[in-house]
Amino acid sequence: MTVHFIGAGPGAPDLITLRGRDLIAASPVCLYAGSLVPEGVLAHCPPGCRIVNTAPMDLDGIMAEIAAAHAAGQDVARLHSGDLSVWSAMGEQLRRLRALEIPYDVTPGVPSFAAAAAVLGAELTLPGVAQSVVLTRTSGRASAMPEGEMLENFARTGATLAIHLSVHVLDQVLATLTPHYGPDCPVAVVFRATWPDERVVRATLATLDPAIGHGERSALILVGRTLGAGDFAESRLYAGDYDRRYRPVGTDPRFPGTGA
Ligand SMILES: C[S@@+](CC[C@H](N)C(=O)[O-])C[C@H]1O[C@@H](n2cnc3c(N)ncnc32)[C@H](O)[C@@H]1O
Repeated sequence: MTVHFIGAGPGAPDLITLRGRDLIAASPVCLYAGSLVPEGVLAHCPPGCRIVNTAPMDLDGIMAEIAAAHAAGQDVARLHSGDLSVWSAMGEQLRRLRALEIPYDVTPGVPSFAAAAAVLGAELTLPGVAQSVVLTRTSGRASAMPEGEMLENFARTGATLAIHLSVHVLDQVLATLTPHYGPDCPVAVVFRATWPDERVVRATLATLDPAIGHGERSALILVGRTLGAGDFAESRLYAGDYDRRYRPVGTDPRFPGTGA
């Protein structure tokens, strides 16, 4: 018996890995994390599968479901939205499973920041513009931000920011970022990326209406010069005169014998 933690992706049911899909299809129990996991993904559950929405449950209740499946020798597919490495509450579940010596494995998923970037057709790292992406959030009711990770600290770096769980405090986000990025810096808010009701708002830090954040909470705020940049250097990777292992140039390649 194994508990399979599976990243269910950002919304579109076909944005799940083949491995994740096959594990769901092979597991007689499926625990999924509420409305953020699309019903289309649950369609992969086998006939007769016990499908439980864990949104209204506490950790003890979730562990009781897993313990019951363990006692019955039944694999569990445990679905969380996006990828499991960020804001999934997987860590505390794994800690309990280790203590109970219940086996588990983890299958990654498409994170919402990557889905939002795809919707925008944006590369979040551009030569000479930004070479880092910060996945962050603002303080919430359940989780305060550690002192060193306040938004202004990341803003000082000029990195592209992917701000989660924060669209309801858009006014504060804009006020914090504007002194660092400048009022003309591009910003995009992607609501429910890859869901049928996906919505995109593009603006600058000065022109974005903070009122768009009142309502739908499932949204990512992307901020940075990479979002609007047309004027950036081409990457050296594909430059014609750039000598690299798989594409040596000249008569005396640095890497002979690669067959390239
Ligand atoms: C609890 S976190 C889950 C993050 C998830 N584990 C991931 O990999 O992206 C929920 C937040 O992720 C963002 N999010 C998740 N799915 C999204 C989507 N389809 N479109 C836009 N933002 C999304 C929103 O900021 C939302 O408040």
